Amino acid sequence: MTTDTFIAACAKDRTQTDSLKWDLVDQRFGGKDLLPLWVADMDFAVPEAATEALHRRVEQGAFGYSIVPADYAAAYQGWQARHWQTQVDETWLRFSTGVVQSLYDLLHCFTKVGDAILIQPPVYYPFFDSIKDTKRRIIEAPLQKIDDTYRIDFAAFERKIQTEAVKLFLFCSPHNPAGRVWRFDEVQRLLAICQKYHVLVIADEIHADLILPGNQFVSAVTVAESIGFQDLIIVNSPSKTFNLAGLLLSHVWLPSEELRDRYDAWASQYKQTEVNIFGLTAAKAAYQHGDQWLAEVLTVIQENADYIAQRLQLEVPEARIAPLEGTYLLWIDLSSLEVPNLKTVVQDSAGLAVDYGAWFSQDYDGFIRLNLATTPTIIETALDRLIEAINTYKAQQHFEEDTHDN
Ligand SMILES: Cc1ncc(COP(=O)(O)O)c(C=O)c1O
Repeated sequence: MTTDTFIAACAKDRTQTDSLKWDLVDQRFGGKDLLPLWVADMDFAVPEAATEALHRRVEQGAFGYSIVPADYAAAYQGWQARHWQTQVDETWLRFSTGVVQSLYDLLHCFTKVGDAILIQPPVYYPFFDSIKDTKRRIIEAPLQKIDDTYRIDFAAFERKIQTEAVKLFLFCSPHNPAGRVWRFDEVQRLLAICQKYHVLVIADEIHADLILPGNQFVSAVTVAESIGFQDLIIVNSPSKTFNLAGLLLSHVWLPSEELRDRYDAWASQYKQTEVNIFGLTAAKAAYQHGDQWLAEVLTVIQENADYIAQRLQLEVPEARIAPLEGTYLLWIDLSSLEVPNLKTVVQDSAGLAVDYGAWFSQDYDGFIRLNLATTPTIIETALDRLIEAINTYKAQQHFEEDTHDN
């Protein structure tokens, strides 16, 4: 299927469908007719097999309490084995309504009020929220920005663990918003440090399936096995991969029996353990039959990323883009434009709703994050508007400078 055929078949007008991204955008951002490139879901219909499976389940008509389908784990394991050569044991798997919900759960379950939790900003802002809301302490080991690529400062990471007595590390892999797909050796060095200081690791691998050509995702589970590291929990979900976020289904993998027992004991006291049959029905079908669909989505994402890079390079050379290795979220550095308040250009002038860098770290004020999982037409419109707004801003600046000089 070409990109055009995929877009013709799968692109969806999501307005007036109770979509958070489209129907809440003006209210959330305090604007009017904003073009939404913010929250991370897709403007595409899910794999046809998932829709058909949902249809069949709806036709059946009774929606009483449900159990996990007997062949769900096999479908999920099949996907993991086909894509990442990761072995997941069925006994490790627990379900939740979302990865963010799981972050809160796991912090409650495995840490205490006041414990030090390490994160690597700039990072997905609910990482900050989950730590603050559960009254733990945020400890930051920022990523290093070298040229436009993000790297881990391992010495600083280890120092923070030592000096702050870190209990738990929240690892974002692949990384939102930096777009990095961490390599085996990078993950191994992180886990080895955590092993040395007995730090529990929660690896958020929700973007694991969204890997662009030339990059290779490696799960922390695989790396942990190679060094005999036990203190690891993985959270992930079919929701980013197949655009199923509204069906509220996510996974918690607990490879360690000891951690599993602690989690189960905690969950039986505090957590809803029933499952959502629609989430499981759609995810199972997508894991079984969604390979080609995902390949096509990744092509669209790559083309959208290339289009933006080419236009910005020509038309706004001040903009810098972090190379997109994974995720569908493009991290753009507009700081050298020195706009005092980026919202005046991006939102008020261009009419775009984006994620702002400051949400991910106080040090990234001049950055924006664009969601590429949409049509080339929307991306083109967004770029037209953004470039025009930037040009208008630059012209005003020159005018003011000239007036000032005269
Ligand atoms: C790193 C990361 N974790 C979690 C989520 C959200 O997951 P959920 O909707 O399952 O809570 C996102 C969404 O963008 C994300 O980027």
